[in-house]
Amino acid sequence: MELIKSKDIFLLMKDTLRLIHPRLMDHGSRVAYMVYKMLQEKGGYEEFELADIVMVATLHDIGAYKTEAGALNDMLRYESRDSRAHTIYGYLFFKYLSPVEDLARVIMYHHTDYEQLKKVNYEHKNLAAYINIAEKMDIYSSAMGSQFNMQMFHKQAGVKLSDEGLDLFYQVAKKYDIFEKIKSGKYKEELDDIIDYMIFNNEDKKKFMEMLMYCIGFRDEGSVIDAITTVSICGELAQKLILNEEEKERLYYGALLHDLGMLTVPQKITDAPRKLNAEEVKVINKHVNVTVKLLENRIREDVVAIVAAHHERGDGTGYPNRLKNYQMNQEQRVLQVADTVTGMINKRSYREPLTKVEVIKALNEEAAKNRLNRQVVETMINFYDSIMEGVSTKSAEIMKMYQTLTSQYNQVSKKFNI
Ligand SMILES: [Fe+2]
Ligand SMILES: [Fe+2]
Ligand SMILES: [Fe+2]
Repeated sequence: MELIKSKDIFLLMKDTLRLIHPRLMDHGSRVAYMVYKMLQEKGGYEEFELADIVMVATLHDIGAYKTEAGALNDMLRYESRDSRAHTIYGYLFFKYLSPVEDLARVIMYHHTDYEQLKKVNYEHKNLAAYINIAEKMDIYSSAMGSQFNMQMFHKQAGVKLSDEGLDLFYQVAKKYDIFEKIKSGKYKEELDDIIDYMIFNNEDKKKFMEMLMYCIGFRDEGSVIDAITTVSICGELAQKLILNEEEKERLYYGALLHDLGMLTVPQKITDAPRKLNAEEVKVINKHVNVTVKLLENRIREDVVAIVAAHHERGDGTGYPNRLKNYQMNQEQRVLQVADTVTGMINKRSYREPLTKVEVIKALNEEAAKNRLNRQVVETMINFYDSIMEGVSTKSAEIMKMYQTLTSQYNQVSKKFNI
């Protein structure tokens, strides 16, 4: 059973990051294109290797989504003067969360001066050097327009930028009309062709999908904790309700991705320490359709359907489609309960976590009104302690890795005074 194609995972990641800041993703695509043409010209790479490289090159500035959150428009600043924060965070993000950790250091070194990079012992250092060149070419050609001349970097050859890389770039830029293709947007077709060669095995796919979920942490780390909690509760409930393997896998992906669209809700609304007004509730409620739109045509329909129904309620009072209980399947009902419980047991800006007694009372009320499914609610209540134990063990494992990433970043940034 294939729930999602490798290339669609990559496209989904791009679309998700575009929600935060579209221009930075476009920069990534142009840089990836230039690097791809350089490597293709150089030869010796299989298509699937080029596809992996295109992915990393596209996401080379992924750290900036976190470290430059308030100043993503000021690309010239963090790309030319303060590059350390985004290279380190991007490196750690790839090292801990992606299945291609051997390429993570490419991100770490993509702003390192060539003189220094030369001395580093790392098999993919040329790739970092090429990204550095492509990135300069893209930023300066975009900023300078007709004043731009790619030879202007020649004085940096062998010092800041790789001399071999620069020569290769000049050659490729002329031969393939790189700047023209970028201007006309034609480069996108060539990129689309190469990403068809992406092949990840199932384990790598799972890791990429989880990495995608972690992208919501660029905006708000609390939503990562929520997502991990919901995924774990769904896993426990699926076990107790004896869902089959296929249902479990669909539910897993649905739970993982169900709130991606929250990235578009302004933080002043998500963090408001008070009850929201009607207008604000409307804005929040849109996150379901935003998520569905992101996932549609990328991941299989039955997973999208699980996501789409996570705020529906059995009595027809939910949103966005006011579905009734009989219109929903078991996986949808499980996610509704898991998402509700997550909302109650995790801290919110406007209240403390609810106690077990309070959670059970609230769940019983929802089931009595036919808003949440009685069977799922009863399973949740009957196995409450064992489910919560499973949740905290699983969450603890995942949170440990995520916290290692964050604390390593904090340590390094303190050391370098970032
Ligand atoms: Fe960068
Ligand atoms: Fe960049
Ligand atoms: Fe939601």
